[in-house]
Amino acid sequence: MHQATIAVSAGRPTGIGEPLNHPIVLASNYRGEAGEYTRTHGTPGWIGLEEAVGALEGGRAVAFSSGMAAASAAIFALAPKVLVLPSASYLGVRALVADLEQQGRVQVRQVDVADTAAVIAAIPGADVVWVETPTNPTLDVADVPAICAAAAAVGAKVVVDSTFATPICAQPLADGATIVIHSGTKFIGGHSDLLIGLAIAADDAVYERLHQTRLVNGSTPGSLEAFLALRGLRTLPLRMERAQANAQVLVERLRQHPAIAEARYPGFGAMVSFVVRGGADAADAACRAVRLIVPATSLGGVETSMERRQKYAGDAHVPPGLVRMSVGIEHVDDLWADLAQALPAG
Ligand SMILES: Cc1ncc(COP(=O)(O)O)c(C=O)c1O
Repeated sequence: MHQATIAVSAGRPTGIGEPLNHPIVLASNYRGEAGEYTRTHGTPGWIGLEEAVGALEGGRAVAFSSGMAAASAAIFALAPKVLVLPSASYLGVRALVADLEQQGRVQVRQVDVADTAAVIAAIPGADVVWVETPTNPTLDVADVPAICAAAAAVGAKVVVDSTFATPICAQPLADGATIVIHSGTKFIGGHSDLLIGLAIAADDAVYERLHQTRLVNGSTPGSLEAFLALRGLRTLPLRMERAQANAQVLVERLRQHPAIAEARYPGFGAMVSFVVRGGADAADAACRAVRLIVPATSLGGVETSMERRQKYAGDAHVPPGLVRMSVGIEHVDDLWADLAQALPAG
């Protein structure tokens, strides 16, 4: 079946007389002697979400309390001693790995993830290769099949943070990845109203490790969040279709705008990063001047949002005028009118 059909139909109760959607079970405790408890046994809502995301990614999914919880679980589950890490990627994951490195728990080899030869050269002797593609916020794209093949040749595992690609634009497990993670907070939820994370594996033993990690770390999602994330997932293919079409038009127009030094777009997905001429001040002024577009740090919602990223210490490496924009599903002409009035004349 196609992704659009899976997104609508997977993860539902199937029995005659059952509701079409798993109920939101607001209970931590269960009556009886079987030891049933939500952290250890889960709720129907988690399971529905996991079935649907697993079906879209071609593996078995475990839902977590946030994207960072899913990232932490992937590292906890695989316990690398030597980790290859993109030098320019989501700052939260790099902070997590830096913390482990400072504690002496992991050795890190930083690479430019878009430089496939450099990534492959760093793999021998490493146990895990962390890939983020496209990267946050510079939108670099990794060659996942080539990296996975090189990792497999020496027995290393590959984790792909596919948050920006979404399960619609990429299925890294089919390319040989060991674990795919998502911040479901972003495009999967799609409405900026929840925090959730997902980790998906095709290998049963890796899936069991992820499941066990959630249990012992206690990084469980809320029932309401799982319900909302699955509800959001139902329209993910449709939202991505519109958001990508919008992104393509906006990038073309940004590239012709005299105030824009550079507009980055990997050719798929709904994230666009552009560099405003005039640096930090000019980019900050544009972020303050938008009226429809939301100046905000998170992304992946139905609404378009944007933020200058170099202001964060973790993103100090990006150009000062780089604005990361998460393109939503509004009418593209309204988005462009807003951007055009917010950008300097050039
Ligand atoms: C690429 C990427 N991975 C992981 C995360 C972390 O997700 P969460 O905020 O749900 O913990 C984010 C959040 O911005 C992200 O952009």
